[in-house]
Amino acid sequence: MKLNYNKISKQYDDVREADVELINKFLEEITFDEETKILDFGCGTGNYTDKIKRLTNADVYGIEPSDGMRKKAITKNNKIIYKKGNHENISFPDNFFNFIYMTDVIHHIPDIDVMFKEFKRILKKGGKICIETESHEQIEKRFYVKYFPSTAIIDKARYPKINDIKNIVEENGLIFIKSLTIGDASERTVDKKFLELVEKKGYSMFHLIPEKEFENGLHELKKDLKEESFKVETSGDTLIWIEKI
Ligand SMILES: C[S@@+](CC[C@H](N)C(=O)[O-])C[C@H]1O[C@@H](n2cnc3c(N)ncnc32)[C@H](O)[C@@H]1O
Repeated sequence: MKLNYNKISKQYDDVREADVELINKFLEEITFDEETKILDFGCGTGNYTDKIKRLTNADVYGIEPSDGMRKKAITKNNKIIYKKGNHENISFPDNFFNFIYMTDVIHHIPDIDVMFKEFKRILKKGGKICIETESHEQIEKRFYVKYFPSTAIIDKARYPKINDIKNIVEENGLIFIKSLTIGDASERTVDKKFLELVEKKGYSMFHLIPEKEFENGLHELKKDLKEESFKVETSGDTLIWIEKI
């Protein structure tokens, strides 16, 4: 099934927002000023671009293939330049950006080798890339796999393994600096807000599992949420840092 982000764009911001911990990681690693050119690749509705522009006043750009998602982004902040594009078509000059990041996007890219070739072209020497994703171990540990078991199977097929990303990065002459885990093994409260996210299919995998499994999982989740909320352990995300030298 092909995901329709024009349709998803109508509800995306009801259930998804920028992760402040992740933005702080960018701020720790990169020096931002008005001269710093940043690309949010697969920027969606601009939740991250908007926050980063406001926090740093850097020169922020976004690439996004879906017209619906991009239109939402444009309405949030008119100081950011958004362009239609995808991994095969990133219409910026060579050696243009100081920093490229992607949040929750790499599993949508059908050919990451082509994407890294484009990233290498548009990144300045000394420029960095940060990819936020999940390892297969993290996918298996998501607390909601209990409710929707095939999400783990579907996502392990969509998300490239961290080591495969490393190999492709290096084959393209870029430097794989490090991968690190953020936001794991802490306590999280699951409440009605998460229920709303599931009901609105706020993660793309909910569009990809059988409808019957989705309904059963939702039913079980609602039963567990009878008491309003419960605690789980977070599975975390992986950040991959890359450099062009
Ligand atoms: C889960 S959303 C993440 C949006 C945003 N990065 C965020 O964190 O809110 C995934 C985004 O990837 C975009 N996308 C899908 N295929 C893409 C491609 N080939 N190149 C670039 N972006 C793509 C989708 O249109 C969608 O906006």
